Amino acid sequence: MKRDHSAVLPGDGDTDYARYMRTDALLDLQRPPGQMIHRDELLFQVVHQSAELWLKLAEAELTEAACRIDAGDPAAAEPLITRATLGVRLVTDQLEMFRYLSPADFQAMQPALGNGSGAESPGWRRVQGASRQLGRAFCEHLAARRIELSALAAATPTDPLHRLAEAMVEWDERVSFWRVRHYQVAVRIGGHAPAGTKGSPATMLAKLIEHRFFPELWRARTSTADEPTDDHSAPHLP
Ligand code: HEM
Repeated sequence: MKRDHSAVLPGDGDTDYARYMRTDALLDLQRPPGQMIHRDELLFQVVHQSAELWLKLAEAELTEAACRIDAGDPAAAEPLITRATLGVRLVTDQLEMFRYLSPADFQAMQPALGNGSGAESPGWRRVQGASRQLGRAFCEHLAARRIELSALAAATPTDPLHRLAEAMVEWDERVSFWRVRHYQVAVRIGGHAPAGTKGSPATMLAKLIEHRFFPELWRARTSTADEPTDDHSAPHLP
């Protein structure tokens, strides 16, 4: 039997795909060729706009992960953080597109960008807030159960809290990877003075690479590096 493709959903667009995905509005979000001062504006907008979407998803997953921890279900938080981490990996991969944006072409489109900076990205701001919220939820969960971070890091690898802590460390690491790639893009395209030059944006970006949302988890993790971690000797958490 032939499948009925006629639109049944409310909204704009000829098809239910267009109506549900709101493709008319989405594809209208890029400047039309007639308004562009440089054709690479499309490349520039697509990378930034899709980054905002992935970051929106990452923020939602981190926020929900914090709620699950608050509700006493840390095992449910881990896969949500893993999704957020994949989101930030995809945002990192998208930076590869800037290999094909030359410094001269980037300079030519500058007037179209006004005084805008990626530092004003709402996605990144919200993701940072959600990361802090996650860190707070995690610490409160441990404190309420009198669990020391050192015990957690040495716990059996299948322990839900241990796995959650590892997922948080990976999130932290992937954000740092993004910063490494972003720093390289900024230096390669932006023609900034190298890191170390006082007041240079590159110096600021290079410093941020060291930033961690959960430094105490990194410390606890490495301070147990010499201790045995096999299933028989590692403690099981309450
Ligand atoms: C051609 C590509 C890009 C260049 C040349 C570039 C350059 C820069 C520079 C020079 C800074 C330092 C602050 C400033 O001077 O404005 C910065 C900061 C920042 N940019 Fe970009 N950027 C690019 C793409 C992106 C993309 C795709 C995003 C994703 C939303 C982004 C997000 C950020 C963020 C969040 C900061 C604040 C620093 C941080 O939190 O690590 N940038 N960028």
